Amino acid sequence: MTNSKRDGFGSRFGVLVAVAGSAIGLGNLWRFPYLVGNNGGAAFIVVYITVAIVLCLPIMISEFIIGRRTQSNAIGAIKKLAPKSGWLSIGVISVATAFMISCFYSVVGGWTLEYIVKSFSSGFLVNDSGALTKTFSNFTTSPVRPAVMMLIYLAINAFIVSAGIKNGIEKYAKILMPALFVLIIILAIRSLTLPGAQAGLSFLFNPDFSKLTAGSVLAALGQAFFSLSVGMGCIITYGSYVDKKENLMNISLTTAIADTTFAILAGLAIIPAVFAFGISPGEGPGLVFITLPQIFAQMPFGHVISFAFFVILLVAAITSSISLLEVVVAYFVEELKMSRRVATLITFSVIGLFGVLCSLSLGELKEMTLFGKNMFDLFDYTTSNIMLPVGGLLIVLFVGWKIRREDVRDELFNGGVIPFKRTLFNWIMIGIKFLAPIAIAFILLNGIGLIKLF
Ligand code: TRP
Repeated sequence: MTNSKRDGFGSRFGVLVAVAGSAIGLGNLWRFPYLVGNNGGAAFIVVYITVAIVLCLPIMISEFIIGRRTQSNAIGAIKKLAPKSGWLSIGVISVATAFMISCFYSVVGGWTLEYIVKSFSSGFLVNDSGALTKTFSNFTTSPVRPAVMMLIYLAINAFIVSAGIKNGIEKYAKILMPALFVLIIILAIRSLTLPGAQAGLSFLFNPDFSKLTAGSVLAALGQAFFSLSVGMGCIITYGSYVDKKENLMNISLTTAIADTTFAILAGLAIIPAVFAFGISPGEGPGLVFITLPQIFAQMPFGHVISFAFFVILLVAAITSSISLLEVVVAYFVEELKMSRRVATLITFSVIGLFGVLCSLSLGELKEMTLFGKNMFDLFDYTTSNIMLPVGGLLIVLFVGWKIRREDVRDELFNGGVIPFKRTLFNWIMIGIKFLAPIAIAFILLNGIGLIKLF
């Protein structure tokens, strides 16, 4: 099944930084801290970590198995393993979800570009939450500027993706990911050494489980899927570029650890600072765009710190959204036989168009709602809380029940090259066949209110 002409990752380090690059993104820096703030802090983190390890890791391993075995894009992979079956819906959901996430993700990506530029403009960093809220809402609701920023952001992504895997995605991830870790550690140290940071630490690490609701457990599940890039064929696609020699279990575990560590580091960089300056952490999506600038305004060298933070946000976002784009581009190239450049151009145009609509849905088009949500919120909520869990559920069921056990074993232990460990394999299979699907189904049904467990 190997195809010598197919592009792929060139080294183990390349695989690790590209996959970690996909996982670490706006999810960690923009979403995770405000979800922690809104859902009571430490208790949410405990649920989040449990879900990430117990439920998302089996999905990630399953996606890698599908991708590397078939060396195909998300739809092509399922076609090879289960031709003309209902399982094909996995591939279709994947491409649709990649597309929907890309739209609102690029909008936020555009905001980060704007805030990088703003960091040095006079009058931006003021210690006045009213003024900063106004700056943020004036910008995000205006019709032209955020849309233009979004398109610039998307163009950077398209530029990287059109260069391919080894010379595009891998090349940039190798430079950007190590830089990202260094920057976030510096920022976390700065935040933790502020007087009064202690209160933030206890908010992050002293759980109060009475604050958890069905909605917050679903939010933790959705966030874990989103943050680990699982449930929609992103890892199938990246997995298809992984060399047959690599150990898929190690790559999955390393990615999950790196992503969770980064989320905690992001929490440490943001929450203690929020407490140190006496601001409430439950600021919602505006946390990093409103609250943080207010904090930067009160720090020496605030402009530099602000600039560094939004560069971090941008870098993290790009290495993630290229993985979303790649899902769509790989499908166009392999199934619709387009050249990579044409495929990228079409993907850019369609996501760009819907991205503009998403951006407008916060301002000019905010009356246009469905289920009481504007397009931006609708895409954000339905992808994380419904489409990713459903996709993930189908993926583990597919690998657990449809693919032959020997084939799964073969792929995990590289046909015997990696010494077989029976207990480990049995646990992975229990996770994939039973634990992940049952737990995801319950949290999903409970969260959307179809059953009542807690
Ligand atoms: N994981 C990325 C983040 O946390 C976003 C992302 C990239 C993603 N690829 C994905 C989310 C696939 C869900 C599915 O920002």
